[in-house]
Amino acid sequence: MILITGGAGYVGAHANKLLNQNGYKTVVFDNLSTGHREFVKWGEFFPGDLADREQIRHCFHTYPIEAVMHFGGVAYVGESVTDPAKYYRNNVVNTLNLLDVMREFHVSTLIFSSSCVVYGIPEIIPIPENHPLRPINPYGRCKRTVEDILQDYEKAYGIRHVNLRYFNAAGADPDAEIGERHDPETHLIPLVLDAASGRKEDVKIFGTDYETADGTCIRDYIHVTDLAHAHLLALQYLTNGGSSDSFNLGNGNGFSVREVIETARRITGKDIKATPWERRDGDPPVLIGSAEKAMNTLHWKPRYHDLTTLIRTAWTWHKK
Ligand code: UFG
Repeated sequence: MILITGGAGYVGAHANKLLNQNGYKTVVFDNLSTGHREFVKWGEFFPGDLADREQIRHCFHTYPIEAVMHFGGVAYVGESVTDPAKYYRNNVVNTLNLLDVMREFHVSTLIFSSSCVVYGIPEIIPIPENHPLRPINPYGRCKRTVEDILQDYEKAYGIRHVNLRYFNAAGADPDAEIGERHDPETHLIPLVLDAASGRKEDVKIFGTDYETADGTCIRDYIHVTDLAHAHLLALQYLTNGGSSDSFNLGNGNGFSVREVIETARRITGKDIKATPWERRDGDPPVLIGSAEKAMNTLHWKPRYHDLTTLIRTAWTWHKK
């Protein structure tokens, strides 16, 4: 059985669905602080908090857990700057709790949700995995710290792991059973769709004077179902004896904020109002990852890589 922490959240729920479709038994461990109970449509649900080691133990006692996918945590870059304590506690200390219980129960396979945020301001585009890790905010430092911890835990305790460094997760389950829902929402694509559906008056473009072709930031958007697939492949890779490693999960393609808005206008048929705004602190102009390594080693092939498919699946979910 596979334990999925944070399996009621956006990426975790998509991974849970895919694992079940592929014959795996899963248990989702989630405190529903940001996740949604109704996203846990597959496998078992164990309501619990990673802050409480006893609850984690109880879950490991109840289910025959063989491997862990660790999505649980908090994920707002801005909030991590104003409330770093919340981030170090949730994303580092709680991960230590999980690792302690894994050791107690002799579970030594872990897939960790890392992020491209570990790289900081990129020196090379597309970013390779061996790029220096110089995160520029507490959220990124938490991710890097957990990667460091895992390296030490592998050496000392044999915890075999894969760090998956996501670029910009986007889109929704093609069957529209689950999708993206954050409160508050800060991500570009759902906000653009909010403006399309009239839930918001407009979408702000954070910075129009970057050194990019149209002056707006470029990001590497990767479909959440493709991310889910990479988790499945990473699990199989470790199960088949693969060694601990880190992999970028991106498209290798970048799209600007304006391109996202333009594509959304075409797909929704709505005249989305876009208002130029000041830059958001800490936004690198361009973030694009090289996913060659995941493709070669994990045999990962993103399927929903064009912006149209990404936004279309998000729009179908959004309308629901
Ligand atoms: N943006 C806007 N207007 C908005 C929201 C976003 O112009 O209303 C822009 C941002 O400035 C950025 C791009 O759209 O250039 C994408 O922004 P998101 O907030 O959707 O995503 P980020 O690239 O900021 O964040 C993503 C992940 C984080 C991760 C981070 C690493 O969502 O979890 O990449 O930098 F930490």
